[in-house]
Amino acid sequence: MVQLKSLTFIILAAAGIVSALPSPAAETKGTLAGPAEDLPHGIYTVDLADDGSTTWTFIAPINETLKATTVAARDLEGLDKRDGVSCNGFGTPADDVNVAQGNLANQCGGGYFFSGRSIAAYYGTGVAFGCNYGNGQTCHSDQLWSDFGAINSQCGFTSGAQAGAGWYSHNSWKATYGRTAAASGFC
Ligand SMILES: *[C@@H]1O[C@H](CO)[C@@H](O)[C@H](O)[C@H]1NC(C)=O
Repeated sequence: MVQLKSLTFIILAAAGIVSALPSPAAETKGTLAGPAEDLPHGIYTVDLADDGSTTWTFIAPINETLKATTVAARDLEGLDKRDGVSCNGFGTPADDVNVAQGNLANQCGGGYFFSGRSIAAYYGTGVAFGCNYGNGQTCHSDQLWSDFGAINSQCGFTSGAQAGAGWYSHNSWKATYGRTAAASGFC
């Protein structure tokens, strides 16, 4: 009986510890709210304000001609074993989110530094985003196309139909890059 009691205590204590742990940093939790319906399409830094609301700060307009380019093969060397794709389990219209992806990649270009919680491109029904869980990130278009290509293969992408929402975790960078429906949260 004494043993059973102490076992019960240990289990309860363990459960308390687990629930007290902060959620894993490099996971998309939907902390940031999607764009308001009347927000112009564009590239934004997206952050969490002190009152818990999400702020969208305009950086640049959307260029509708920017879409997916050929995805470069990923260099597997040097990748953290925990890195990889997670799918949200829902879809979003592929053609809109593809323009969002193209614009985020173009903004990142040969290296774009952001230190807020997120950088995001919003177009139509879709959002492409980068999440910073560390002290800032420098995104590159090549790396984004590689991430989006990996998300395409695991979560799905059909032009004229749906793209699976999902994100790619770069654990050592404390960053994720992904895409989702404009109505959903991210980061
Ligand atoms: C949009 O992107 C295309 C392709 O890169 C480029 O030729 C064009 O100048 C861009 N338009 C604007 C307004 O930046």
